[in-house]
Parts: sequence; C-alpha cells; structure tokens
Amino acid sequence: MCGIAGYFGEKENTDKVLISILEKLEYRGYDSAGIAIKQGKKIVFEKATGELKNLKEKLKGVEFEKGGLGIAHTRWATHGKPSVTNAHPHRQGRVYLVHNGIIENYKEIESFLKKRGYKFSTDTDTEKVAALFDYNLKQEKDSQKAFEKTLKALRGAFAIVAFVEDENQLFLARLSSPLVVGVSEKDFYIASDALALSNFSKRVIYLDDFDYALVGGFGFRHFSFKDGKQKTSKIEDFDESLTSAEKGNFDSFMLKEIYEQPDSIYSSIAGRIKNGRAVLGGLKDVEKELESAKEIHFVAAGTSFNATLAVKDLFESLGVPVFNLLASEAKYSKARVREGTVAFFISQSGETADTKEALKKYKEAGALCLGITNTVASSIARETHAGVYNHAGPEISVASTKAFSSQIAVLILIYAKIKELKLGLERKDKTLLKELQILPDILKKEIKKIDKKAKEIAKALKKANSMYTLARAGELALAFESALKIKEISYIHAEGYPSGELKHGPIALIEKDFPVLMFFGNELYEKTFSNAQEVKARGAYLISVLDKTHKDAKKISDRYFELNYIKSKANIILQSLPLQLLAYHLAKEKGLNVDKPRNLAKSVTVE
Ligand code: M6R
Repeated sequence: MCGIAGYFGEKENTDKVLISILEKLEYRGYDSAGIAIKQGKKIVFEKATGELKNLKEKLKGVEFEKGGLGIAHTRWATHGKPSVTNAHPHRQGRVYLVHNGIIENYKEIESFLKKRGYKFSTDTDTEKVAALFDYNLKQEKDSQKAFEKTLKALRGAFAIVAFVEDENQLFLARLSSPLVVGVSEKDFYIASDALALSNFSKRVIYLDDFDYALVGGFGFRHFSFKDGKQKTSKIEDFDESLTSAEKGNFDSFMLKEIYEQPDSIYSSIAGRIKNGRAVLGGLKDVEKELESAKEIHFVAAGTSFNATLAVKDLFESLGVPVFNLLASEAKYSKARVREGTVAFFISQSGETADTKEALKKYKEAGALCLGITNTVASSIARETHAGVYNHAGPEISVASTKAFSSQIAVLILIYAKIKELKLGLERKDKTLLKELQILPDILKKEIKKIDKKAKEIAKALKKANSMYTLARAGELALAFESALKIKEISYIHAEGYPSGELKHGPIALIEKDFPVLMFFGNELYEKTFSNAQEVKARGAYLISVLDKTHKDAKKISDRYFELNYIKSKANIILQSLPLQLLAYHLAKEKGLNVDKPRNLAKSVTVE
C-alpha cells in the first residue's frame, strides 16, 4: 500500500511534480499525505490527514522556487492509525524519509536506538528506519555507506526514498515493493508505479529487489545492497498506452472501467486467436511443460481469485486436477508441489504481497510458475518463469472490474492453448474462441441497458443492509464476485454462496424482503430455479440475472436482468456486467465515493 513520490531536478516546480505524482498514486492509499521539499537551505515539511486535497490546502500560500529535491507520500495505514503524526515523510535528526511496505524488525531497531538516546513520537515502523539512517550517518562519514548499512539491517518489504537535510541528493531503495525512476536529462521523477510518471518522462528505470540508488547533480547511480556493487541501469521505454489513465466524461474510474470492457477484452485477445487457435507468445517457451502438466494450481487474491473460479470447470475438462488457492492461504499450504505442477499467479497489479509470497514458495518447491498480470514489468511479471499480460489498460478504481473480465478472457485463451497441446482442439473449443472474439460487440450492445436496470434495482435495494448472492457450478464465481464488489464499495453486507448450500444453514436468514441476487446458468437451470422458489417461498426479494429463455425464473423474480446469453464459457463475462453495475449504483445511491472505498487501497502490497 501507500504511494511514494520523489523529484530531483532543475526545470520543474518541485511541489507541482510531487502533487501530480501523488494524485496518480492516491489509489494506493488515501488516509493521509505529506511532503518534504528542500530548495537550497529551505525545507518545507507539511502533512495532513484524509485525501490529498487537504495537503494541497495546507500548501496554499507557500512560496516555492523551481528545482531542488523533494519527497512525498500518500498513505494506507499499516502501523498506527491515520493521523498527521503517523503520516509520512518521517523526520529523525537530519533525515526525511518516506516508505512503502512493512519493516518486520522495527521493534528491535526501536529498542537499539532508544538505548542510544533516540525518542519516537509515532506508531510507525518508518520512523525507526529514518532514525536508523540518521544514527548510521553519525557512525559513517559517507552517507552512501550509512544508507547501505541501514538497508542491510532491515527485514521485511520496502520501497524507500529519503534525503539528508544538508545534502543535495535523494536516496532510493527497493525490496519487494515497487519503485520506478523517470529520467529526463538532468531531472529525475520517482514513483511507486510507472503510471504516475506519465506526465513527466517516457524513459524509466525500474529498481529491482535489493537495489538502491543515489540521485543528484551527478545523475543516477545504481547499486545493490546485497553485495555493495555498482550496477548498470537499464533505461526502458515507457508504455504509451498507460497514459490514458484519466476519468474522461465519467464520474468515477470504476464506471469508466466498466464501460471500457468491450475495448479491454478486445485488447486482451487481439492478435492472440489465429485460425481458430490461441497464440500466446509469452507461453511459447513452456509449451512442453504445459503439454505434460499433471496438476494446475491457480493462486490469487480477491477478484483475481474469483476470475480463476470462473474457469475452474473449463480447466478440469483437461483431465488434470485443478486447485484454486487464495494466495493468503497458499503461502502457508503444506501441500506438496508434485512433478508436473503448473502454477498460475494471477494479479492485476502484479504487486500483491500474498501472491508474491506464495510465488516464492512455489518456485522454491520447483513448480513451473506462470504469471497473468495487467501491469507490465510488475514484480509477478518479472519473477515468474513466463506469463501472459492482460493488456486491459490501467485499472485505477479500487474495485476491480475490467481486470476481472480480462483475466477470464486470458484464462480462456490459456485453456485453449493447453487443450490443443494435450488433447487437440474440438469444435466446442473453436466455438469458445469465436464467441470470445464477438464478445466485445455483445458487451457494447448490452451495457447501457444493463446500466439502466442496475440503477433502478439499486434504488429498490438502497435500504438493505444484508443480502445473499447465489449461484451454482459454472456461475459460482459470480456469486462470490458480486458479494465482494457490493461489500467493498456499498458497505452492504453481501454473502456469496453456492445456492445448493442454502438448506444447510443460510436459508435461516431469509425472511420477508431479504434481498437475494441469483445467477441462472443454462447448466443446472432447474436446480437453481428450485433454490429460487425456496427463497421466494420465504418472502425473499429476488433479483435474477437470467437469459431470455428462462421464463419461469423471470416470473418469480421481483426484478431481473434479462440477457441474451451466449453458449460458451465466454458468457460469464457478459453475466458479470450486472453485478459490477449493481454494486456501482448501490454505492452511488448511498452517496459513497466509489473509487475510494473506506479502509481499502488498490494494491495490497503488505501481508
Ligand atoms: O492486484 P491484484 O489482482 O493481485 O489484487 C487482488 C485483490 O486485492 C483485488 O482484486 C481486490 O480484491 C479488489 N479490490 C476487488 O475489487
């Protein structure tokens, strides 16, 4: 969590650069923000709780010159409640420092420093890092050595940017938490995420784990804190498509991203279906292993996990066991990785700490590890053996929507590839790929109608404080995904359940007007219909997602989304539009900030 910004240079207004970068990073956390700018001998140091606008308010009237250096931060609290004191940057002695991640041994560092006279005023781990750097500055004559020594003493995950009050350089470091530097002649722009640099530089350097760097009038110096050796930096071209991360005419990123799905699905599959076959360049080198795969594991968190559930039955038809594992659990799993285990790590951001940790375990155990991420050069993309990008474009809203559909689309392509390698493609597989190709047009046609319906239904439900979202088998992922989406942005308690489980307990909650969102599939339609009758008989308010042929279900529903189902698995993407738009409108009806739900951040980069 948290977003880091930094600048060193001559030509820009440091405050404007830092605020602009933070604005693009607010999705990573927004409970407080802070800034420290050094211009000559003058240092401006300001922090505020709440959204960035509060910090901007505090900076009004402060005079800044061009150039200098600065660091800034937008926070999602891990250690210590959101407050001005706990907000970053943290200052100790001569050091100003911002940090993303978690320092596991901060207690040890704290007691070491307390014995040496340091006093702490915050609940954060970061303040202890700033103090340790300050302490090491007193021990070592050279500030680079002091920084390296500090980094070597830290355990955990971090991206750090710091400066020393009487020096004109920035100190940067990364371990398991992203940090990117945009380069433009003598100006350097730093952020947790390349996307945030789009206004400033198209040439970037990604720091790797165990890298640290110094940025100053001498340029950019790159080192490893593992062995202290200098490194040659690789400057990469920044992907132009990332610059489209603006809201446009939409009131929120979430709505914009829902509406983008016809295009994002198109980009996810573009050039990847040729002559009725899936063509995935990223998996070319591992085709042998895919052909002989004996077990398939999907490891992911949140919505990305739900996307893997959506294709479980498809992959099971390959005749190998398929395991869908929540990353936060998989990393502790004692289950053995067998010979022939192929593990997929699915993550929109490519930076989710739990997924990264599980990946580490699977790699150590010898599995073939493949990444499916939407973020080019993210940690998961770099640390897996091979993989496929989603190409869905940047997803800014905390609530994931277009990433979900593009993950399903990419997983369908991967299924088709493995099917071809293992058993050969059948007619139904070719139909599946064809339907995936026509899906963007279908979504385009349906989306407005679904949006309108979702708005009406949300009005009827806005007083609800609890509901069920139910489905069976192939549609089960939709029950879980609706519950997640509704909870996270509308704060209505929603519980996703397999409808066949109702009688084993959950039905006890059904009473007059209790809302139930039910997904009807073609497969097991009758069984789902019986479950719908059961809840209706107990007074539930039934909202159905159904096909135009599901006449009986329509009759007993209080409200329904009537869709023109397509036959193959690609249909699940169409069925997910109602749940996304319903969650969106529920949040709007309640006057909530859909892009910035409370207590959440876009990337969960801490465990
Ligand atoms: O970046 P990732 O796909 O790894 O993120 C996983 C989850 O944190 C994420 O999907 C989360 O559940 C979303 N907020 C759901 O909308």
